[in-house]
Amino acid sequence: MSGPEHYSFGEKYFKWSRSNPPPEIWLKVENPAMTSGINEAMLYLPQTSVEDARVLDVGVGGAKVVDLLLQSGFSPKNITGIDISPTIISLAKKLGQGANYCVADITNPKITKKLSQEAPFDLITCSMVFNHLTDSQLIFALSNIFNLLVDRGSLVALVPYPKKSKRSDLIDANDGYVLCNDIAPWGDIVQYHHRNFAQYFETIEMSGFIPHFQSFCRPNSPVETTNRLLIVARKDVQFKNSLINHNLGPELINRHNYSR
Ligand SMILES: C[S@@+](CC[C@H](N)C(=O)[O-])C[C@H]1O[C@@H](n2cnc3c(N)ncnc32)[C@H](O)[C@@H]1O
Repeated sequence: MSGPEHYSFGEKYFKWSRSNPPPEIWLKVENPAMTSGINEAMLYLPQTSVEDARVLDVGVGGAKVVDLLLQSGFSPKNITGIDISPTIISLAKKLGQGANYCVADITNPKITKKLSQEAPFDLITCSMVFNHLTDSQLIFALSNIFNLLVDRGSLVALVPYPKKSKRSDLIDANDGYVLCNDIAPWGDIVQYHHRNFAQYFETIEMSGFIPHFQSFCRPNSPVETTNRLLIVARKDVQFKNSLINHNLGPELINRHNYSR
C-alpha cells in the first residue's frame, strides 16, 4: 500500500488543479507534454479506431488528463480513471465527463483483478504519480501497468525532472534519487521521490517495456523550479521474444528505428 501521504490529495488539490485560469505549470508544461505523449501513443494504438480503444488514467487528480483524452477522441465509456484518494474520485465523478472512475491503488497487486471488467487497456496514462511512489512501489506499479496493457499497448508517463536552481535540496539532472517533503502549490506538505532520467528509464525497461519516446519539457518562461520528463513506452512481448529468439539483447534495440 502507498503511504498515507497520498490521501492529502483531496479537495484542496482538486480545486487548485481545476482552477480558472488553470495552474501555469499545467498550461505551459504538463498540458503540452501530455498532449504530445498521447499523440505519440496514438500513432501506435493496437486498436485501429480511437473510439474503440480502452484507456486507463492512473492517479486522475483533477481529471485534466481525462479532459485531454476526450479532446483526442477517446470515447468516455472506454476511459477509466483510478485514484488512491476516495475524495478525488468522488469529485471527479461529479464533473460529468462520462468516464468511469474508481478508487484503486496502482501499487496493489490485486488491481488487475479489480479492473478485470475494464482491462486490458490499449493506452495507460500516468501523469505526475510515479514521483509519489517509493522505489518498490514504483516497481509494483509498473508491473501492474504492464499486466493491464494489451500487447503493443503504450504507457504515457510524466514525472518531474528537477534541476538545481533556487532550491539547494533539489537534484541536478545528473544526480541520483532524492526524497524530500515540499510545500505543494495547493498548500499541503507532500512527499516527493525525485529520480533522474536514467533511473526512470532503467526501471521502465526492467519492467518489460520498450521506451520509444522521451522529451524533456520545460516552459519558455520559468514557472517553477522543476521541469518535466515525458516517457512513452510500449509493451511488445512479440518483439521482445523475437529478439530473444535471435539472441539479441535488449541493449541492441535502436529506439528511434523501432518507433518509426
Ligand atoms: C500530482 S497528482 C496528478 C494528477 C493528474 N494525473 C495530473 O497530472 O494532473 C497525483 C495523483 O496521484 C494519486 N496517487 C498517488 N499515489 C497513487 C497510487 N498508488 N495509486 C493511484 N493513485 C495514486 C494522488 O491521489 C493524486 O490524485
